Amino acid sequence: SNKIKNAKLVLLGDVGTGKSSLVLRFVKGQFVEFQESTIGAAFFSQTLSVNDESVKFEIWDTAGQERYHSLAPMYYRGAAAAVIVYDMTNAATFARAKKWVQELQAQGSPNTIVALAGNKADLLEARQVSVQEAQTYAQENGLFFMETSAKTAINVNDIFYEIGKFLSKF
Ligand code: GTP
Ligand code: MG
Repeated sequence: SNKIKNAKLVLLGDVGTGKSSLVLRFVKGQFVEFQESTIGAAFFSQTLSVNDESVKFEIWDTAGQERYHSLAPMYYRGAAAAVIVYDMTNAATFARAKKWVQELQAQGSPNTIVALAGNKADLLEARQVSVQEAQTYAQENGLFFMETSAKTAINVNDIFYEIGKFLSKF
């Protein structure tokens, strides 16, 4: 078949964790060392072939700066999927990711699939959040979890593909 499924996807997470970089990697296959901090939010789209379907992601890349926090519900409400990003070299961003999970559990749509991305996995020597800790947290909260690197591209397509695979079942 040639079905196309539109899926609204939002990226949430602390400033500088690499949300825009993950989107740039996924949508354009690029990485820049000096990615500018997002203002408000930015929109992108990308289509993936999953099983027998095309999943067209309509991606909202939100700004991590606290002053934009009040805008977030506009982007996560009604989203098919949310990717919550932390920087595995910065424990404070993992704590912030947990706050986003709580906010989505309280205010989000019950059907939103939530994925947790431990980004900057290329910076192994600087690790502050263990795989075990994040994995356990993800399991307890029913989240997909992957460590990613927008820089090296590790697991970037994979995390979107896993989400797409899940969405294509419905
Ligand atoms: P806000 O828009 O301010 O919320 O930040 P953001 O989450 O969009 O982060 P952004 O993509 O702007 O990345 C912040 C910085 O981290 C940039 O200098 C990126 O080059 C760098 N960065 C992003 N992803 C990675 C990664 O996987 N590895 C490394 N080494 N650096 C990364
Ligand atoms: Mg950004």
